[in-house]
Amino acid sequence: MRMIVKLRHLLILLAVCVAGTYQLSLPDDPTYYAGVVEHSVAEGTPKEQTSIISNAFRTIIESADARDLDIIVFPEHILNNRETATFVPHGSQNVTPCYATDYEVFLRNITDIIYPTYWFSELPFLTAVQLQEGWAFGNDVNLLAADASHPSGRTTGSGIYAGRSGRLTATINEMPVRLLLKAHVPKRRPGLPPYQLPAQIDPIFQPLLETPRYTKVATYRDYNVDIFTSVLLAADFLNVSQRLCHGSNFCCDFQVQRQAFAGDTSALQAYRYRLGAYLGNETTLIRVDRSEQAICALFSCLDEEIQSCGFVFPESIRVGNKHHFTSIRIGGTFPAAPRGRRLIMPSTLDGLFMPVAVAHYNWTETPAAATHPEQAIRVDLELLRPRNDLLTFAIWSNYYTELPSTHNLDHLQPHGGAPVTATSSPPAGAPATAPVGGSGMALTSTLSLVLACLLSHLWVKVSPT
Ligand SMILES: *[C@@H]1O[C@H](CO)[C@@H](O)[C@H](O)[C@H]1NC(C)=O
Ligand SMILES: *[C@@H]1O[C@H](CO)[C@@H](O)[C@H](O)[C@H]1NC(C)=O
Ligand SMILES: *[C@@H]1O[C@H](CO)[C@@H](O)[C@H](O)[C@H]1NC(C)=O
Ligand SMILES: *[C@@H]1O[C@H](CO)[C@@H](O)[C@H](O)[C@H]1NC(C)=O
Repeated sequence: MRMIVKLRHLLILLAVCVAGTYQLSLPDDPTYYAGVVEHSVAEGTPKEQTSIISNAFRTIIESADARDLDIIVFPEHILNNRETATFVPHGSQNVTPCYATDYEVFLRNITDIIYPTYWFSELPFLTAVQLQEGWAFGNDVNLLAADASHPSGRTTGSGIYAGRSGRLTATINEMPVRLLLKAHVPKRRPGLPPYQLPAQIDPIFQPLLETPRYTKVATYRDYNVDIFTSVLLAADFLNVSQRLCHGSNFCCDFQVQRQAFAGDTSALQAYRYRLGAYLGNETTLIRVDRSEQAICALFSCLDEEIQSCGFVFPESIRVGNKHHFTSIRIGGTFPAAPRGRRLIMPSTLDGLFMPVAVAHYNWTETPAAATHPEQAIRVDLELLRPRNDLLTFAIWSNYYTELPSTHNLDHLQPHGGAPVTATSSPPAGAPATAPVGGSGMALTSTLSLVLACLLSHLWVKVSPT
């Protein structure tokens, strides 16, 4: 809870520590009770929006549903915006909403992160819940993430995550929602073993030709995949065992097995899959900030072309799981962190834009990445349970570059439709289904802010206990 207390004065409007007449979590309680709000954006002038949303937030805070919560986290950028912002620090003040000045000091031993966000999902690695759950897992911290709800504008996906124990609750939606998600969050104490979620009884796996899938959550495409070393797998592959290298130093080992669906599948289309490997500093985050990444990935594509990766089939197309995955193993040796900063995380996704539950994969690091930034780390990711539909199964890492971005902050606009393509539209298809919303300036400033918060700056260093 240290983090929450320290951040509270800065995020007073976004995270409310609820103090009512009801009993709050006591210091020696094993859990605290948290809520995150996913909330649609309001119409109207900036002033009207602030008024509508502040009333809506107040209603939630005062509702019976919220009365026994210790904390509620609200999404950013929907209550205030540029026009109604009350405090805009000058660059020279060295103040950012992510506290870049001293995060390195006070994020040590941090156990809980609150993350109000307005996130733009990107396929195949950075959709909202996928990133939140992977990030909480990689850092092994509790994460309370509240996103705005504007699915046609690429924004939806909130949750509460207990580090390596996995998600306590999460949601991502095709239509705008107003939702309060709640969970009892285990308190982490140095020296005590991590909390184990109660074991879930999984139903016996069944191959299903058609499984529900999202087509109305718009997303960006990750253009970094175009510079990966990648290989297209055969449409009917059953067993692939391959080492794939990017350059001479970074290699990923893949073993992937599938079984064909027993039945007629000829009326349906299916995703194609690629294996990809990348290590380098030529990548960007949503084409806004430069990044240095290392990735070993299995990811889906619409056809043989690399340009078709990072999209989902539109609603009009019947998509079938002509094969299901019976086994996936991905491994690689991730280099030492040159600046002492590195986050290596699982990045997995299914047709409903949810990650594979932590109980369904095995993640091993040798030695532990967080405590050995100066060493290369062998990471292995193994699917433990058969799976019908997968869009992504990957080890994704960020080395928090300090390279200046070569991108102009308003570059998204001059590119026109190119990088701004709706999820459900193939590259050659229709233009984006919806505008991104707001002016170019507002968009890019939000993008930078959001990126700065989770990807560019905020990494967590947890001291050995
Ligand atoms: C982190 O926690 C450990 C174990 O409780 C403690 O020894 C160490 O001083 C803490 N570090 C910081 C920076 O608070
Ligand atoms: C898959 O291929 C690998 C290597 O070619 C082989 O060792 C393994 O037995 C195969 N697995 C199945 C299920 O066929
Ligand atoms: C980017 O990576 C390449 C290849 O590893 C390296 O030669 C180059 O120095 C890096 N650039 C910077 C500015 O660090
Ligand atoms: C996870 O992988 C490690 C290393 O390969 C292995 O020792 C362990 O038994 C695996 N755990 C599960 C649950 O498969």
